[in-house]
Amino acid sequence: MSYRAAYDAWKSDPEAFWMEQSKSIDWTKPPSRALDDADAPFYKWFADGEMNTCWNAVDRHVEAGNGARLALIYDSPITGDLRKITYAELQEMTSRLAGVLAERGITKGDRVIVYMPMIAEAVVAMLACARIGAVHSVVFGGFAAHELAVRIDDATPKAIIAGSCGIEPGRVVAYKPLLDAAIEQAEHKVDFCLIHQRSQQLAEMIAGRDEDMGEAMAAATPADCVPVGGMDPLYILYTSGTTGQPKGVVRPAGGHAVALDWTMRNIYDIAPGEVFWAASDVGWVVGHSYICYAPLIAGCTSVVFEGKPVGTPDAGTFWRVIEDHGVKSLFTAPTAFRAIKREDPEGEFVGKYDLSSLKSLFLAGERADPDTIIWAQNQLGVPVIDHWWQTETGFAIVANPLGLEHLPVKIGSPSVAMPGYDVVILDEAGHPVPPDTLGAVAIKLPLPPGTLPTLWNADQRFQSSYLTTFPGYYETGDAGVIDADGYLKIMARTDDVINVAGHRLSTGAMEEVLAGLPGVAECAVIGVSDPLKGQLPMGFLCLNSNSKASPSDVVADAVKKVRNEIGPVAAFKLACVVNRLPKTRSGKILRGTMVKIADGDSFKMPATIDDPEILTEIAEALKTLGYPQK
Ligand code: COA
Ligand code: AMP
Repeated sequence: MSYRAAYDAWKSDPEAFWMEQSKSIDWTKPPSRALDDADAPFYKWFADGEMNTCWNAVDRHVEAGNGARLALIYDSPITGDLRKITYAELQEMTSRLAGVLAERGITKGDRVIVYMPMIAEAVVAMLACARIGAVHSVVFGGFAAHELAVRIDDATPKAIIAGSCGIEPGRVVAYKPLLDAAIEQAEHKVDFCLIHQRSQQLAEMIAGRDEDMGEAMAAATPADCVPVGGMDPLYILYTSGTTGQPKGVVRPAGGHAVALDWTMRNIYDIAPGEVFWAASDVGWVVGHSYICYAPLIAGCTSVVFEGKPVGTPDAGTFWRVIEDHGVKSLFTAPTAFRAIKREDPEGEFVGKYDLSSLKSLFLAGERADPDTIIWAQNQLGVPVIDHWWQTETGFAIVANPLGLEHLPVKIGSPSVAMPGYDVVILDEAGHPVPPDTLGAVAIKLPLPPGTLPTLWNADQRFQSSYLTTFPGYYETGDAGVIDADGYLKIMARTDDVINVAGHRLSTGAMEEVLAGLPGVAECAVIGVSDPLKGQLPMGFLCLNSNSKASPSDVVADAVKKVRNEIGPVAAFKLACVVNRLPKTRSGKILRGTMVKIADGDSFKMPATIDDPEILTEIAEALKTLGYPQK
């Protein structure tokens, strides 16, 4: 089927389209209809159906006689470990861990936090929760204890499943002290913790609270899949918003399985038994959808890679993994390719490996710059496909659907809207604009199955964050243009979210941390362009007039505080002390103008600026940090 035929089939009869797609999923009680809009804007998909995501991801493949097929390949160039897990083995591991949880009182609807590095057990933990209808919330390992504590208090889990450590190049990150500190900080108290002990750093257990996950699994009675309602939450995944309080994106079970299964065939062009590799982390939405759920629901083999694109051990590591495991499609963030290109611009490592299995490269998570796309196309000789989506949607909003047809590529554009999404560009008053006109990227409601129905315990915030600016539409938070052929280009965020190495971070959250530094009167954090990571956060600190602290001490404290409270992943290393911040006459900090100066871009003096002289001071401060770089 052509892309146009698929999109039109959805648009002319969304109900029939999604009911047809729902047949590729096993239901214990098939849904009688797709959409229920009685409670709009809280739309429900497949609400009266019952199913289990773990059954669809694991057991049904074993039952169909494919138990010997590889489900997961764990490949860690950091530890040197390689482990291949069949669907039958995954069923055994998952049902045992589900048994451990069930025996300790975890039932349908209970929350379980998963705090694990990129190991197969992280996927097993997610599936084990899904198996018994528990709601997992995976927290990325690069976050600090405070961020984990915030999530514990919001999700109020009964249990936490954690690894004893993560391994970053050159250092072992002990997770257990972070976990203990987070539990200590959080007001909500968990019943128990299961710790997966890794030999690189064993965790000290707290008697009565912590248990060894491996030992508990060996002693457990395997648990069966528990059917859940189509709208029951499968997981909560926290993502950055405009404040320090992250948003708990809720993922409904039924629509998620239906939509992801559709994407594997139609967007990624992957069939059962083929090897798919998302080089991301289970802590992010890409990891949830394309390391764990989608490849398994589709009966593929998923690679769980614990490494970096460079330095583990070299810029050829991605090509080695593709050759060793016969990877058909690789999905990663452009920053990973920028890192490889920087180390190996001529692609000498590429030539050393047999990449004949590779048929496509998918990029998402941040803007894919033309240089990177062209380099990847030249080196790999396969379609390089940029696609655009968000934690909130769980799968691509705009893409080039290789499985349907490879549409002409327009470099710099992630291509066209996928079935389910009516993407429009709106002006400030909420009116659609003509082609090629910049505006807010919005999606006409309802969003398709699998997308967020609300935020965890925060219906009001869901509405105010996404639905109130443009009534009848979902506000994506991105600005962009659509051309006459329907190709979208993402230009910028309309809020204070920045994207650092494909990681979504809130400058507002960093400002909240910095405002707590002694002696700091006010502050601003902006995202400046970075050739490797896309953006980097940069802080500007104004001190109280009576402050005696030296600017260099304040900057050092600021860097330390953000690392301790948000985590190393914030990559907050650039900061300076200034006398004043540029503001409008009504007191709004002119962050956009500061970004333009830092990036060396031309800008128009804002008509509402209070004192233009301050911009000169900002430019002087930026020079001390080496900006602008061009
Ligand atoms: N646990 C603990 N610390 C972590 C971590 C984890 N899971 N992940 C990252 N960190 C730390 C890093 O060690 C680094 O610490 P440092 O300041 O002591 O060096 C810091 O967080 C920043 O990490 P990162 O932004 O990843 O930078 P990097 O310099 O280590 O690596 C890249 C740069 C480009 C190689 C890396 O970001 C990468 O591989 N990106 C791929 C894109 C990706 O996975 N995106 C996810 C969405 S698709
Ligand atoms: P996350 O929720 O972490 O996946 O981040 C989503 C945000 O990342 C989007 O709203 C965009 O700002 C940005 N993003 C993701 N994919 C792309 C892309 N292909 N091109 C440009 N920006 C992207």
